[in-house]
Amino acid sequence: MANFPIVRPRRLRQNKLMRDIIAETEITEKDLILPIFIKENLSEPEKINSMPGVLRYPINDNLLKFIEESYGNGIRYIILFGIPSYKDDIASSAFAKDGVIQKSVKMIKDTFGEKLIIITDECTDEYASHGHCGIVKERRGTYVVDNDESLKLHAKIALSQAEAGSDIIAPSSMMDGVVGAIRKELDENGFQDTAIMAYSAKYASTFYSPFREAAYSKPGFGDRKSYQMDPRNGYEAIKEVRLDIEEGADIVMVKPAHTYLDIIRLVKSAFPEYPLAAYHVSGEYSMIKAAAINGWIDERVAVMEITTAIKRAGADLIITYYANEIVKWIREGVPF
Ligand code: PBG
Repeated sequence: MANFPIVRPRRLRQNKLMRDIIAETEITEKDLILPIFIKENLSEPEKINSMPGVLRYPINDNLLKFIEESYGNGIRYIILFGIPSYKDDIASSAFAKDGVIQKSVKMIKDTFGEKLIIITDECTDEYASHGHCGIVKERRGTYVVDNDESLKLHAKIALSQAEAGSDIIAPSSMMDGVVGAIRKELDENGFQDTAIMAYSAKYASTFYSPFREAAYSKPGFGDRKSYQMDPRNGYEAIKEVRLDIEEGADIVMVKPAHTYLDIIRLVKSAFPEYPLAAYHVSGEYSMIKAAAINGWIDERVAVMEITTAIKRAGADLIITYYANEIVKWIREGVPF
């Protein structure tokens, strides 16, 4: 035996209080953003087959009651996804004054005022008959999503959301220049104080599948690989995030979260001065849920471990379908 004292990290792991005092990462309710699906022409909340435990809400008291309960649990940030009653080529229900999101934002603002921050997902896929994140054009016999034509449409949708009262616009289309186009439109129309949370590094991921069932937003043809990022690329995320920051993003995002912890760390290290959101997406949610329903994992411990990992990797904000459960579980005491 060497003649020196054994270094003993275990001293600080003796019991829960000792572990708590040196814990580097702590999830609080202020880290969490709750996604809510809102569907037009619905009267009662509706189950989503691919996402057990998540519901689609109608634009009525059922929605307000759910938000009130979530507020009671400690939730202060919500992100809204709309499911319109009609779709067309140019996603006109996404910018209609009485569109599903516009009506919902007004109703929630009228009820909750400044008590909640409302974030609105800004995209066309749920509102367009073709299910893509922009304007589709025919070019040399194939259909493509036209970048620059799409910018005008995204700016228009963003403005209509701001007019309805959204606090933060979250462009999720991955069109080049979309953040700049939205910033300009908002500024020119007196919405200098409306913030932008950009889905900056959004990967073309299979883990969005349950969401596409939830929001009926599966592309009608092709896929999203010409605009969303290639899962094989890491450093490219830095380029995407840098461009969004230059164009005026206030908060940037990595999506998915659990499958892309390395990207969260990379982006946080490159831009530590910018708030970073991470989206624990539908497929990541449903995988945990499925294992839990089968009794293969302890749902509470798994969710707390994964959410903590996302924060430990560098996320400041976490969008998660588990937000309500997490705030309850925090109150019961972390399972570490
Ligand atoms: C686009 C959008 C999507 C998600 C959030 N915003 C779907 C997509 O890009 O196909 C996915 C979120 C999730 O899977 O939880 N409006």
